[in-house]
Amino acid sequence: MGALVFLKGAWPCDAADREGRLDHARSPSPELNEDFRAAMRRLASAVGVLTANGPVGPLGMAASSITSLTIEPPSLLVCVNRSATFHSCMNEGRSFCINLLSRDQRDICDAFGSPARRNERFVGDCWSVDPSSKLPVLADAQANIVCVVSRTFPYGTHSIVVGEVSDVRLGGDIAPLIYQNGGYL
Ligand SMILES: Cc1cc2nc3c(=O)[nH]c(=O)nc-3n(C[C@H](O)[C@H](O)[C@H](O)COP(=O)(O)O)c2cc1C
Repeated sequence: MGALVFLKGAWPCDAADREGRLDHARSPSPELNEDFRAAMRRLASAVGVLTANGPVGPLGMAASSITSLTIEPPSLLVCVNRSATFHSCMNEGRSFCINLLSRDQRDICDAFGSPARRNERFVGDCWSVDPSSKLPVLADAQANIVCVVSRTFPYGTHSIVVGEVSDVRLGGDIAPLIYQNGGYL
């Protein structure tokens, strides 16, 4: 097994206070940041499109930070950058949907993951409005998971959002889209 090389910068525990402000006196070195990015490129993740109803229509963004949290209550978490348009929907009590993407939905992921392609979102006949939640849902997704924002926790540039699941619709075969090293498996 190769030697692990780490601890090039300050250890970042307690680096943010309860409001998510970072303690810049303990900022990690650029070298550590670069190594961290390289390590994260090796972290394969399923990816989804978060959707909600914004003030003037549907909003959505690609997210790979989706993590199962608890079965009782059925809940998960997702981390949303505060600079993302979608962040305005992440208030407690608001509903949103996690559309877990299928292997053949790369184009959808690319459009919802790039600010330059905002006008390519919610196009085509794969989008509909879920009759009960009224949220935008994607056809042929691995799953459509309807959630209510239960809690949010600021951390650095992001909000950690706990979503309590209120409804789940499953797609067909298990064939998720996996994001790794800036591309898809
Ligand atoms: C595969 C993939 C996964 C992503 N995961 C996240 C994520 O978990 N959280 C996040 O805040 N942004 C994530 N992003 C970036 C946002 O999707 C991207 O910045 C998007 O353009 C934000 O929406 P906006 O342009 O409407 O602000 C991801 C992008 C891609 C391509």
